Amino acid sequence: MTIGFKPNLLFNSSYINGDWFKASSSKTFDVYNPSTQEVIIAVDDGGLDAVEASIQAAHMALPHWSSRLVKDRSLILENFYDLILENQKTLAEIMTLESGKPLKESKVEVVYAASFIKWFAEEAKHSFGSVIPTPHKSKRILTIKQPIGVVGAITPWNFPLAMITRKIAPALAAGCTAVVRPSEATPLSALALAELSRQAGIPAGVLNVCVGSEASAMGEALCRSEIVRKITFTGSTRVGAILMKQCAPSIKKLSLELGGNAPLIVFQDANLEAAVQGAVAAKFRNAGQTCVAANRILVHEKIYDQFAEMFVKAVAALKCGDGFQADSDIGPLINEKACIRMQEYIKDAVNKGGKILLGGKQLEGQFFQPTVLSNANSKMTFYQEEIFGPIAPLYKFANDQEALLMANDTIYGLAAYIYSESISKCWQISEALEYGMIGVNEGLISTEVAPFGGIKSSGMGREGSDVGLDEYLELKYLCFGNINS
Ligand code: SIN
Repeated sequence: MTIGFKPNLLFNSSYINGDWFKASSSKTFDVYNPSTQEVIIAVDDGGLDAVEASIQAAHMALPHWSSRLVKDRSLILENFYDLILENQKTLAEIMTLESGKPLKESKVEVVYAASFIKWFAEEAKHSFGSVIPTPHKSKRILTIKQPIGVVGAITPWNFPLAMITRKIAPALAAGCTAVVRPSEATPLSALALAELSRQAGIPAGVLNVCVGSEASAMGEALCRSEIVRKITFTGSTRVGAILMKQCAPSIKKLSLELGGNAPLIVFQDANLEAAVQGAVAAKFRNAGQTCVAANRILVHEKIYDQFAEMFVKAVAALKCGDGFQADSDIGPLINEKACIRMQEYIKDAVNKGGKILLGGKQLEGQFFQPTVLSNANSKMTFYQEEIFGPIAPLYKFANDQEALLMANDTIYGLAAYIYSESISKCWQISEALEYGMIGVNEGLISTEVAPFGGIKSSGMGREGSDVGLDEYLELKYLCFGNINS
């Protein structure tokens, strides 16, 4: 398939200190197109050399970058934002090529990714300190905010651009410098972004992208470094816990955006059309490979059959295919292992009484049919596990209390969704749900203006919004004494 790349955005080695890095070893790793399983390109395996060089570059660049005027940093970030949007098509093509997601979704992600740059270019201007009313006549008390220092960002494959910008935009805006370690499955989007950062005038060393195949060794090197002062990670809860442990000896600051097990509750009084539309969006965006995906769809028993029928009809209309085909809604899963996991979930559910209403099978290659299962129950493995694929299980509940108990019956607490026409029910249930984000009659909740993040085993810290910048700032208290009046 011809995709018309601008060749200047396709790179295959780490970007460190404003240049393309040559690792000491000649080792490479292949990046695959999940739609065809063909190799797109061999990428230099920077490994630990690249991590070390990136940390040093970020360390050297820190004094100058952190002491620049906020308005200068902001202007450079505005340039970066403009360049990302100017290159939307190329970036989206690279993203679809390496992640498989439909081109229309990739284009939306490029805009979503850019939105964080714009947002934090503005937010940086508002990182105010405070003057605190003094309790002593001779003292004045105030606070200032300062950049944390070198930031290590470890990012996943499911949103190859947006999960990077959601971290580096506040970091750079705050005056930090950064080392990004993108997933080995999707390094090309990250490297294209690095090139645009150079074109935008982000100085050498301020943003470094180290690519390599050894995820755990590279992550550990970032966590163990005494120079890196903060780790920000999006990925599984299992890996988040490992990184947390590795960060403990150096008492590093951490932001963790981890796994989810989102309930989507459809109450008896819900607008069913809206609920179906919201459930399709919340479940099948990126073929279900999002941490905020509706993982358990809980439906009131009185409307269960009607909802199931409407939902199946809507899901049946989704077209599964290569992301470069204009009408594709569902791309391939990231790898064969993910397809096997889907098959195991379905087998387990059917063995425990589940009924396949739609789909249920792997198609050619890594494509998996959008699947709807009814009669889901709490014994099924995916009741407690993040599916991360296109399977939508429908659970039944009899009353609000049961729905709430089921919804909160998980170690996770990232996103939840509710559908009801009653304002007081929406309000009360929102308060009772143990989640960091709630979609009320809405299936798509992600935006740069809102605080993205979870509670319980879904992580700590918030990304985006007016609080996102503080994750990259230290608060310093100044006490001026001997003030003579
Ligand atoms: C994620 O799946 O990690 C992020 C999803 C989003 O930003 O909407």
